[in-house]
Amino acid sequence: MSVDLLAGTVYEAGAVLTMRAPTILVFDSGLGGLTVFREVVRARPDARYVYAADDAAFPYGRLDEAALVARVCSVMDRLVALHRPDIVVIACNTASTLVLPALRARFPIPFVGTVPAIKPAAEQSRTRHVAVLATPGTVKRDYTQELIRSFAGDCRVTLVGSTRLAGLAEACLRGEPVADADIAAEIAPCFPEGEPRTDVVVLGCTHYPLLLDAFRRLAPWPVAWLDPAPAIARRVVQLIGGPLLGHEGDEEAQAVFTGGHGVTPPLARALADFGLPCVHAEPMPLAM
Ligand code: DGL
Repeated sequence: MSVDLLAGTVYEAGAVLTMRAPTILVFDSGLGGLTVFREVVRARPDARYVYAADDAAFPYGRLDEAALVARVCSVMDRLVALHRPDIVVIACNTASTLVLPALRARFPIPFVGTVPAIKPAAEQSRTRHVAVLATPGTVKRDYTQELIRSFAGDCRVTLVGSTRLAGLAEACLRGEPVADADIAAEIAPCFPEGEPRTDVVVLGCTHYPLLLDAFRRLAPWPVAWLDPAPAIARRVVQLIGGPLLGHEGDEEAQAVFTGGHGVTPPLARALADFGLPCVHAEPMPLAM
């Protein structure tokens, strides 16, 4: 076998197999998955990307578990049929902590999930008090409890289920004003009075890194804010390999929204800044 890396072509026993850049589908309930998308693009700039936001069902944090499994499976049926991804990144803790087994049983492609970074938080905490800031769905999952039992048994773990932060992050990207006081109120439970103080806060929802500057500014004391996105990008590369030489990612990435509400001009600009100038509606109303 010989490999022409520049042309991205493999010659094997007379057959020519063209190594094409993979299609990567990055999925979230809304705009939070963009924080994962940008890291995956950095790791595989040559890939073809579809960013899918199930905004018709946003926020996932309020859906009960059976409804969420059914919703994600049915939206994924459609997205996989339409876009034929080689790998899917579920850039949503609320979905990943519940739906991954069902997705892996349903589709013959790899799924990479996003789950709260409790293990690295416990490894790096000096005070042995960490907080997990996530949606109400994620904090009550058995999966999250199991992560705490397995990796943070010797730490105090303060679980904070925020009902509003994901929506506030979306509002910010849409260009709507968001009051500091509203953000401060949502993060306040990560900083309980008394010793030992928290020194690490796990960003257990992919929307939250969108508000990181505000979190740093509004926190009552400095902490490390753990964003799992770089680790997810590394996992994608482990599964599908590094960039193909000679492929520059020539196909424009596209963003797909299930809600069909349209995007405001500030959101269109924000999406373009994330490398998503091309936006489509793929309406899939949520049957409640
Ligand atoms: N971005 C999602 C997560 O990581 C959830 C936000 C929501 O839909 O409730 O959990």
